[in-house]
Formats: sequence, structure tokens, C-alpha cells
Amino acid sequence: MCGIVGYTGRRRAAPVLLKLLKILEYRGYDSAGIAVANQERIDIFKRQGKVEQIGSASLLVGRTGIGHTRWATHGAPSEKNAHPHAYGKFVIAHNGIIENHALLKEECIARNETFISDTDSEVIAHLISRYYEDDFLRAVQKACVRLEGSFAIVVLSSDHPDKIVCARKGSPLVVGKGDRECFVASDLVALSSETDQAFLLEDGEYAVLQGAQPVFYDRELSEIYKEKLRFDPVFDCADKEGYLHFMKKEMNEIPSVLNKTKLSCVPEKDFNDFYKVLCQTEYIHIVACGTAYHSGLCAKYALESLCRVPTEVCIASEYRYRNPIIKPRTLVIAISQSGETADTLAAAKLAKERGAYLAAVTNVKYSSLTRLADCVLETNAGAEIAVAATKSFNAQLAVLYSVALLRKGEKEDFTEFAAYAQKTLDSAEAVRGWTPYFLGAKSVYFIGRGVDYCAALEGSLKLKEISYLPSEGYAAGELKHGTLALVDENTPVVAILTQRSLAEKTMNAVHETKSRGARVFLITSLPDIAANAEATSSVLIPACREEFTPILSVIPLQALAYYTSIARGNDPDKPRNLAKSVTVE
Ligand code: F6R
Repeated sequence: MCGIVGYTGRRRAAPVLLKLLKILEYRGYDSAGIAVANQERIDIFKRQGKVEQIGSASLLVGRTGIGHTRWATHGAPSEKNAHPHAYGKFVIAHNGIIENHALLKEECIARNETFISDTDSEVIAHLISRYYEDDFLRAVQKACVRLEGSFAIVVLSSDHPDKIVCARKGSPLVVGKGDRECFVASDLVALSSETDQAFLLEDGEYAVLQGAQPVFYDRELSEIYKEKLRFDPVFDCADKEGYLHFMKKEMNEIPSVLNKTKLSCVPEKDFNDFYKVLCQTEYIHIVACGTAYHSGLCAKYALESLCRVPTEVCIASEYRYRNPIIKPRTLVIAISQSGETADTLAAAKLAKERGAYLAAVTNVKYSSLTRLADCVLETNAGAEIAVAATKSFNAQLAVLYSVALLRKGEKEDFTEFAAYAQKTLDSAEAVRGWTPYFLGAKSVYFIGRGVDYCAALEGSLKLKEISYLPSEGYAAGELKHGTLALVDENTPVVAILTQRSLAEKTMNAVHETKSRGARVFLITSLPDIAANAEATSSVLIPACREEFTPILSVIPLQALAYYTSIARGNDPDKPRNLAKSVTVE
């Protein structure tokens, strides 16, 4: 993970670097740092914590610099492990994982070189220093050849105070061009705050930023021409707009996101191909991680029940190493809010290599996944800044349900769902009163059957990641096969019931937990179930087509996680140990 940036040009570098890093903070916020070069020296300023901790670095003098916001992989979050790292005449910032770092470090130690940090990254600066004669770019290239794993790196040299050398393999890096200035960043969202002209660096390529025009090289260091991409702002707004937290703002945007949902392809001309593939497909594989995986599970129920197309949903990190069977006429759908999740990208690449047609459901234009896919189904949910995914989940469902309906030959108007979502948001406020029962709980269970089970999984993930309470999402019928042993009078159980035909069955599980002393909370679209006297409290949500109910039932679950997180004194937008975009394995 981690976000990296660089700037060289007519302005002072430090304020630009800090601005870009703030935008990239969603990639990690354990520590942050910048390095700025001037004719005398390179100054480094870094601290543990978020980008705001290095605010005073804006005073650093110089027009060329690099920066980093970290999500720790190797080495605890601390000042000494924060990037940039320096050795000799070189200072580097790195995103990725150097898998052979231990071996390389041993090699350096045998040469009497000393290390300051516990990171896998510091060794990169040592290697560049070793290979440097008088050619900065060549030294970076020679170092990169030695690196195994994934990396995007930006490098400064005190011998070349107005130059940045960049390289990538497996981790994203984009170069931007402005008016007599150049930028580099981990993504276009950051760049789009400064320019609308970018160059997408591919694996094995290098860029040298100096003066007004970046220059690009292939892996042998032959100069190459790169097409300039003129892009629209990726997201127009990343502001809290008066809300206390981005998460709350983003949940409140669900109705407007659903209102905008329209199944379309980017580029539009690919829609016919996608439609043809969809109509002929005999198997669907969905690959994704985390919340996106849960939206895939919800889609499976809709695709199988409405279209009768066998659909397999697989956690991307498993799929990529599992040697999956991909038969002819298999459509693979990769779902990723960020479009940068390393495991999802690897699973999607594998599926494509094996001949599958790859459709991407993503929220970020120009992301790595959009560049890989045969067709992109955009979710158009707008910037999602809170680490816990909310509106992007609902938007993914709207797109995936539309795909199911397209295959079935039906039209659905999701504007109707926008009104339902607004009603659900209003009723979901009641869960604020549930939090006292959750605060001290040893564990929490979310149960449901069918699509309600998928919603239960998502409710549990949300609660875990921002409230830090242990919880599990469980198929209601499965509890009695072992897990019921964990339920006692201190256990809150949240049951989701939206399907009439399964309601009584789920209520059996509710009774079973209740007789072991559990406190039961219901989320249901069925008024008679909502009136059930056994529950401590219920939230009644609007009824809609049964296959699609997670698009609404997840809203009170998101709200429950949000209010519990606040009641426990956490920051729901930036939960500990996590980051918004998981670009490492
Ligand atoms: C949970 C959450 C994560 C992401 C997962 C995949 O709230 O946000 O579980 O869903 O890391 O991320 P994307 O969708 O960007 O591939």
C-alpha cells in the first residue's frame, strides 16, 4: 500500500507534496514524510502518524522533492521506519514489498553498510548508491534489476538536485505534466488536483522528471514515446461538507448514488460486446476482496435465481493461486472500488490470460483494473474517502443487479431504490440506541439466510473494522452446528429477515439464541417480524424485490458499525491497521 508523490518545477515543492500526500492518505496513514532537494542538500522531514503531523515540513526550501504516506508492512509504524529513506547521495520513497530484502540487506551489511530502519525499502537506497558511478538513472535501473516483489519508487540524488527518477513493477505510478512542472503520484486522483495531463507508467518502465517535460525509458533504458492522457477530474469533491465524518456523509449519499445508476460501459462502444458475451455466457466467476467480495456474493444469488447462470464467487487472493477451471464462455467479473487491489488485479489478470472475457466493476476511472478489463462497468459513486466502504457497496449492487436484469431481458429503474434507500437511512437512525448493548460485548453475531446471509457477512465486517469488536456473520441455519456454544447472555445477535419464505426459518435461529440469553436485534422488511416481542429492538425497512434486499438491509448495518465506532471513541474514517486501497499481497 502506501502513497508516493514527487514534484519538480517552478514552485516550492514542499506545499505541493503535502497537498498530494493528503489526497493519498487513504492508502495508509501510519507515518508520513517528505524530502526536498536544494543546491546544498536534501532535507528530510518525517513523523509517525498522519500527514498533518508533518505540516511544518511545508517550510522546507527547494523546488524538487518526494513524499510518502505509509501503511506498514515491514517494520512497525514509527518515525525511523517512515519514508523517505536515505543512503549516501540518495533518498527514496517506496510503495510495494521487496520480497528478497533480507538477502540484499545481508549483502549490504557484509559491505559494512549500516541500516537505520526495519523496513524492506531502505535496501533500495543502498543498492542505488552501490551502482552509482555518475549516471543516476542507470544506478536506479541496476538496483531495480536486483529487486524481487513489487515496487513503485521515486528517487532523489544530492548530485542532481532538480531531478527525480521513478520506476515501477507491480505497484501503480502515474506521471503528470503541468505548466513548467512535473508531478508523480500513486494515482490519478492525486494528480487531478494539479493537472489534467498524465502519462501512465507501465511495469519495467522508468521516468526522469526534470524541468517541464518528463522523459520515459524502457527496461533497457532506451528512450520511449508515451501517449499523453488528457483526463477529466477523477473526483470533483472530497470534502466532508459539514459532516463530522466522511463515512456518515458517504452513507447519506446512497440515495443519490442509486438515483444515478445506469448500466453503461466505458468506452461506450464496448457495451455491445459485453452484452453479447453476457447473453452467451454459461458460467460467471466473480473475483473480489472484502466488501466487494460480499457484493459479489449478493450478485450470485440474483444471477443464479433470476438468470440461472452458475456463478462462482471467489476471494481474489485464493483464486489467483488456486489454478481455477475457466471453461470457454466464462465471464469473469472483477469488483473493486479502488481498481487497485493487488489480489483482485492478479486474479483478473490470470482469468484474462486463460481466455476469459473480463468485465470490471469499479469506482475509479483510469485505475489499473480499468486498464486491464475488456469492459468497465463504472459504479459512479463519487469519491469514497472513509476506509470502510459504504456507498460503493450499494452502487456495486445496483450495477450487478442491472447486469442480472440485462441478461434476463428485464429493465429495472434504480431511482425507485433511491427513495427506498432514503427511507431506510431515516429508520436506520434508531440503531444509535442499540450501541450500549454492543460496547462491552465479547462477540457479536450477524445472522440471516439467502441474501440476508450475504448482508450479515457485510454487517459483521463493517463492525469489526471500525469498532474493533470481534464479530461473525453466520448462516442462520448453521449456528446450531457448533457456534451456538459461544452465545450467552452477553451476546448481541443481529438477525436480518427480508425474505418471506425464509423468515420463519431464520426466526428459529433467533429463538435458539434468545433461549441462551442473547439480546436480539432485528432488521426486517416484514412488519409482523418487526413487531416480534422477543427482540430488544427492530428496524423496519421498505420491502423491495427479494433478490435485491441487501442494497437496503445493509444500510442499518453500516449505521450500527458507525455509531458503535464513535461510542467506543474510534475514528470511523481511519480505523487502525487498515488503508483504503490494498496494493500489496
Ligand atoms: C471494507 C473495505 C475493504 C475493501 C477491500 C477491497 O469496508 O473497504 O474490505 O472492500 O479492501 O477493496 P476494493 O474494493 O478497492 O478492491
